[in-house]
Formats: sequence, C-alpha cells, structure tokens
Amino acid sequence: MQKEVVVSGIRPTGFLHLGNYFGALRNYVRMQDDYQCYFFVANWHSLTTHPDTRELQKSVLRVLAENMACGLDPEKVALYVQSDVPEIAELYLYFNMLAYKGELEKTVTFKDKVRQQPDNVNAGLLTYPVLQAADIIIQRAVKVPVGKDQEQHLEMARNFAERFNYRYGDILPLPYAFNYGEDLIRIMGLDGNGKMSKSENQMATLYLADEDDVIRKKIMKAKTDQGPATVHSDMPDFIQNLFTLLGLVSQADVVDHFKTQFNNSSAGNCVIRYGDLKKQLAEDMVQFISPIREKAAALQADEKKLKDLMAMGADKARTRAKETLYLVRQAIGLNY
Ligand code: TYM
Repeated sequence: MQKEVVVSGIRPTGFLHLGNYFGALRNYVRMQDDYQCYFFVANWHSLTTHPDTRELQKSVLRVLAENMACGLDPEKVALYVQSDVPEIAELYLYFNMLAYKGELEKTVTFKDKVRQQPDNVNAGLLTYPVLQAADIIIQRAVKVPVGKDQEQHLEMARNFAERFNYRYGDILPLPYAFNYGEDLIRIMGLDGNGKMSKSENQMATLYLADEDDVIRKKIMKAKTDQGPATVHSDMPDFIQNLFTLLGLVSQADVVDHFKTQFNNSSAGNCVIRYGDLKKQLAEDMVQFISPIREKAAALQADEKKLKDLMAMGADKARTRAKETLYLVRQAIGLNY
C-alpha cells in the first residue's frame, strides 16, 4: 500500500530548541517508519528577515545535523534544503495568484513581524504562508507535523489548494497539521512570556546545543511564584509549562509526585517546593539534551558527508516535486 505523504520544515534562523523538538522533531522521528517523509530546512523563509547569509549557511548545516541527532535517518526520509528544490518556487508563483492581500495581511505571524521589523515589511514576508503552502503541496502531502503556532498557516495552505482545485481541477490533496493523538503543542519560554523561540530571550529558551551547566542555570531561573493559594488550584501557565516539560523528559511517577504536591498545597501550607521540582527537571533535561548535543556536534564535524546527504535528500524531493509540477502545469493548461 502507498504510504501517506508527510512534509515539514524548520527555519535555520538560530539554534534549535525544545519547542522545535516537542512541537515538530519528535513527531518527525516517530513518523519516519510509517509514512513517506519529506523534511527540510526552510532557508528561503529565513531570507524574509534579512539575516547575515554567511551565518545562514552555517545554520543550514547545523539544523541538518540537529535533525539527524534527534533520530532522523536520511536513508529513510528525504532530508533536504528548500533552495535545492526550485520546483517549490514555481508552485509558489501559481499560488500567489490565488492568495489575497486581505487574508495575508490578517495572518498572525505577519502582524507579529510587522511589529518586530517595521522597516522591513517586504512582499516575501506578506506571502510567507504562500511559500509554506507550496513547500507542502509540491509533495502532495496530507500530514504536516508542526507546533500550535503553525496551525493558521496550515489552514491557509488548505485554502490555496482548494482554490486551485476549484479553478483548475481536483488534483491537489488537502494537508492537515498533525500531532500524535493530541492537540498541537506549544512550549512556553521559561520566563513565562509567550512561546519558546529561537531568537527571543535566550535565557528563557532551552537549546538542543546547550551545555549541561547552562541547562541547569536556565531551569533554576525559570519563573515560579509563591505556590497555590488553595488546594486543587488551576495552574498559572508558567507552572503548567514546567509540568509539561517534566511530562516530556521525566518518569511518570516523578510527574505524579509533584502534581500531588501541587494539588495538596495552599497558602500557609505549601507542600510543593518549586526549587526541588526545578532541580529534578534540570537533571532530567540534561539527560535528555546532552546526547543530542553531542551527536549533533559529531555530525557537524564532517561537512562533506552532510553535504552529500543534503544532495541525496534534494534528489528524492525533486523527483516527487517534478511529478506535481507536471500535474499542475497540465491542470492550468501550460503544457504546450
Ligand atoms: P519554525 O522554524 O519557527 O519552527 C519549526 C517547528 O517547530 C515548532 N515550534 C514549536 N512548537 C511548540 N512550541 C514552541 N515554542 C515552538 N516553536 C517552534 C513549529 O511549530 C514548527 O513546526 N513556517 C515554519 C517553517 C516552515 C514549514 C513549512 C513548516 C516553512 N515551510 C512547511 C511546515 C511545513 C516555521 O517558521 O517554523
């Protein structure tokens, strides 16, 4: 039976962090045996924020190495760099004719970027979700493992595919955001201010390349409060986030232990000690991150091999991308 097709990408705008791991990479690794997978480094998307392109070159290789260090096998999946698949750019062009200014301007990520870089509101930034739709649909993917922040982009990708099908004939499958059996994931920063991200507060972000002592230091500084006012209180979101992280890297009985303590705590009788919780989380996090960090460093040492793997991934990605473009050109009537 034909396996379902999966696509996902990560921008090489900085070091990968725990949000990237738990929102995306963890699913990539789980999916690689059961699906036909295409995973890529979204370097074109990075250009929308005008990074130093020498740094970008290094980042692309590092992100590839980090993908593999997390457990992706480049023999099983197509692991490639976006700019090595020019077919994506052609599909982006066709989708641009089906994307409307009003809806692009309303996109949450666009509005965020306008706030962050008011002097660089370029057309690439506006049409960022159109390029993302092309990345996905060029492989005719149906499942896209991503974190919660990408949900709107996936909805837009479906809209563009539907409009294409309506106008030119039903040839494109509709893609959906994917996470195994649960809602999409959103890891917050350790300071409790918004999502964990590559470039914002570095002390609030746990990177897959962080040294053990840095991991401990960041977690010990994570935001907490005086403890719950009454037993069985709702958790503030920054405490919930610590429990989410604990749930991801610690044993189930450890999580239960601290949850019970939280639920039994109240003002004047605070059983839970956030210092102890953070110490435990820090040690479990070190156990989790350090093997990934070391493997990624070893892989980065062999640049030639990384580049060979990158070329192999691009070959696989282009094979299917060319098939899609053939269908698309035929549907539009560009096959002279
Ligand atoms: P990017 O590079 O910002 O993030 C890569 C992946 O990590 C997830 N992620 C998170 N998940 C949970 N909590 C967080 N704090 C967190 N931060 C990041 C993201 O949801 C994403 O899955 N536009 C995309 C890149 C892209 C793409 C695509 C993705 C380009 N083309 C096609 C899927 C399919 C982005 O900027 O991701």
